[in-house]
Amino acid sequence: MRHATIIGTGRCLPEQVITNNDLASIVETSDEWITSRTGIKQRRISTGENTSDLAYKAGLRALERAGIGADVLDLIICATITPDSFMPSVACMVQDRLGAKKAAAFDLSAACTGLVYGMAVATSFIESGMFQTILVIGAETLSKVMDWTDRGTCVLFGDGAGAVVLQASEQKQGIRSMHMISDGSKQDYLSLSALPLLNPFVESGEQKITPYISMKGQEVFKFAVRTINDLIQKVLAKAELKEDDIKYVVAHQANYRIIEQAAKFAGIALDKFFVNLDLYGNTSAATIGIALDEMNEKKLLEPGDKIILVGFGGGMTSGAILVDWT
Ligand code: ACO
Repeated sequence: MRHATIIGTGRCLPEQVITNNDLASIVETSDEWITSRTGIKQRRISTGENTSDLAYKAGLRALERAGIGADVLDLIICATITPDSFMPSVACMVQDRLGAKKAAAFDLSAACTGLVYGMAVATSFIESGMFQTILVIGAETLSKVMDWTDRGTCVLFGDGAGAVVLQASEQKQGIRSMHMISDGSKQDYLSLSALPLLNPFVESGEQKITPYISMKGQEVFKFAVRTINDLIQKVLAKAELKEDDIKYVVAHQANYRIIEQAAKFAGIALDKFFVNLDLYGNTSAATIGIALDEMNEKKLLEPGDKIILVGFGGGMTSGAILVDWT
């Protein structure tokens, strides 16, 4: 059987650092409130680069780390809820800039679970024999969909991109198990409107659209804690492994208190959960790719280490992947 292995990771963060104190000069908040409720100390905010720019740089770095050229890519998937445009997709823009001439390319919308869903799709293509080498990117410029007058949301998010390159292997390694699930009945927990239905044939007056993220914070919190535990159990069972076999859990970086409670709930030591949300805030589809690249750079991962990637986000979507690191 063919397996999908991770052969490279990459990330790109905008240079501009915005601290909690910087935000306190825009909305009524404080470093103490943000830190104690979320664990976030600062985030990166783009002042020029759009999603495709960050995605391209993260993708290029992942290819460099993998030691391959863009010409071998069969597919590029970009997970994002903040594309530069509806059309062309960010993935097509990245394909052009990388010069990945033989690759197919498309965007995927699964909010903060985007990279995990993208990796699951890529793994399925590889296992089926359809493709050999796939670049999956999670990239966001959430700063453009923030209501910067709403202290309840604008303190939580940041901009950035993370990427992984997956490649087929005949060895039993790489992606060992996956689980994906969605619950559309909870769609009002997190939302971000697109364009209103307005055309010359629509009779009734204006439809007001607010192009910002809105959120039921406490509902998301409860959903996240329960879901992280459920998904960890699912991928462990599918891979016939136990909690003790796991070296790291890389959970979506939304809130430190979510990670703390999820660790307790799952019966996994908190220090096995990688955390960098203090530096970048919640970058939605990008968080897990950014974390993986940092871990890779810090040489935290050895061949044979078992790690779990687990995401949750608007939709509500959620998914996990158990990786046997190579
Ligand atoms: N600074 C100061 N005060 C604030 C701020 C802020 N940034 N934001 C809200 N408050 C105030 C509220 O106005 C409220 O004041 P009031 O009591 O006078 O009305 C008070 O703090 C409590 O507000 P809550 O919203 O009830 O605060 P809560 O304790 O629930 O914490 C938080 C809010 C941190 C968002 C929490 O609900 C949470 O962590 N939820 C998880 C959501 C999350 O992480 N989302 C990320 C995106 S989702 C995703 O990635 C999938």
